[in-house]
Amino acid sequence: MSWQFDIPRVIFGEDSIEELELLAGESAFIITDTVINKLGIVDRVTQILADNQWSVAVWDCAEPDPRISTVRQAAEGIRNFGADTILAIGGGSVMDTAKAAWVLYAKPDMDLTALTPFDELGVREKAKLVCIPTTAGTGSEVTRAIVIREDETGRKFATINPELTPDIAILEPVFVKDLPKNLTAYTGMDALTHAVEGYVSSWKNDISDGCSMKAVKMIFEWLPKSVENPEDLVAREKMLVAASLAGMAFGNAQAALAHSLGHSMGSVLRLQHGLSVGMALPYTIEYSCKGEPDAARHYSELASLIGISGKRHEHVSRKFAQAIRELMERIGSPTNMKAAKVTKKAFKASIDKLVQYAMMDAAISMNPRNTDSGIIRRIYEYMFEGNPVDF
Ligand SMILES: NC(=O)c1ccc[n+]([C@@H]2O[C@H](COP(=O)([O-])OP(=O)(O)OC[C@H]3O[C@@H](n4cnc5c(N)ncnc54)[C@H](O)[C@@H]3O)[C@@H](O)[C@H]2O)c1
Ligand SMILES: [Fe+2]
Repeated sequence: MSWQFDIPRVIFGEDSIEELELLAGESAFIITDTVINKLGIVDRVTQILADNQWSVAVWDCAEPDPRISTVRQAAEGIRNFGADTILAIGGGSVMDTAKAAWVLYAKPDMDLTALTPFDELGVREKAKLVCIPTTAGTGSEVTRAIVIREDETGRKFATINPELTPDIAILEPVFVKDLPKNLTAYTGMDALTHAVEGYVSSWKNDISDGCSMKAVKMIFEWLPKSVENPEDLVAREKMLVAASLAGMAFGNAQAALAHSLGHSMGSVLRLQHGLSVGMALPYTIEYSCKGEPDAARHYSELASLIGISGKRHEHVSRKFAQAIRELMERIGSPTNMKAAKVTKKAFKASIDKLVQYAMMDAAISMNPRNTDSGIIRRIYEYMFEGNPVDF
């Protein structure tokens, strides 16, 4: 069977942003948000482009967990300006806004909720896409995935299309150093979840495995350092690279159950993406390793990279889940819903919707162990209390 592995050109390291000087084109439309715009990051990029005779427009209205209506506004901006290059400068929300707007630039009438991996979009006939992440987490700068929200229901959904792999990703560590500690922790946990889920999903392959393994090792080493010393540019660079490696892994192999549970928590409880999927990860490992020898072996292989060993793969998998919880405690990422300030009342009011949206999420079909709505409900209940999954 033949397989395919898609990634953009990746430029990384301190001052890698200067490589923009070599970019071919005339008119750049920058998509960002107000927080990032105020940090001076966008100014540095516009200056480089202006020095090289580009005409530049900046649109800074992106929002966390972008709605389709916001994407439409961005696409209208691009169309009015007539860009040959789209630059996304921000976290996953900004990059996904740019990717989805790129689709609408090429196909203005496209219903984004109906986008499939098989649609021919022709995005490159309109513009190329350069992604410059300012969080070290989502890996969206290297993936063909977009995650956006329906306006009417608030439901987040993920979709993929091979054309949506960006052309260039620039990993500039200086752009991440002002990311607050809590967001550094949450987004880093998103990256770890991508690396682990890519390593157990149904589409895992030898290339994605290599990316996952390196990313897991790097994240355990460098995420605590990034949180504890935000100005440490080596740690910031290592985390940017690890997040991209994890993005390459899951972008080509797909995510799994922690993402289905996490997307639903993002939709219903409005919890940050990395906080949600990171919290879900240990519970899904405990669930997925049980009675699934291949999955248990795969988790054990990852565990061995951080020095965890043992005779029974299932037991080692559970120790790996516990090591992930310890990492989260060290960096201040909540390990259960109570710790994330979800009240019992809010949980009870949300549980039906949480289960419903998780069951609708595409990643659920990639999980090594099957689920149903009753199981999803039980995992959420354990996650609310913080009890390791034992079924
Ligand atoms: N397409 C993909 O492959 C993919 C993968 C994983 C997640 N996602 C999606 O990405 C989104 C989450 O992205 P995220 O975790 O990067 O967070 P985000 O983009 O939503 O940003 C979170 C907050 O951090 C701020 N911020 C970003 N960079 C900053 C910086 N350097 N300094 C200070 N503040 C900064 C933003 O302004 C925002 O307020 C979710 O919608 C998630 O579903 C997409
Ligand atoms: Fe994610």
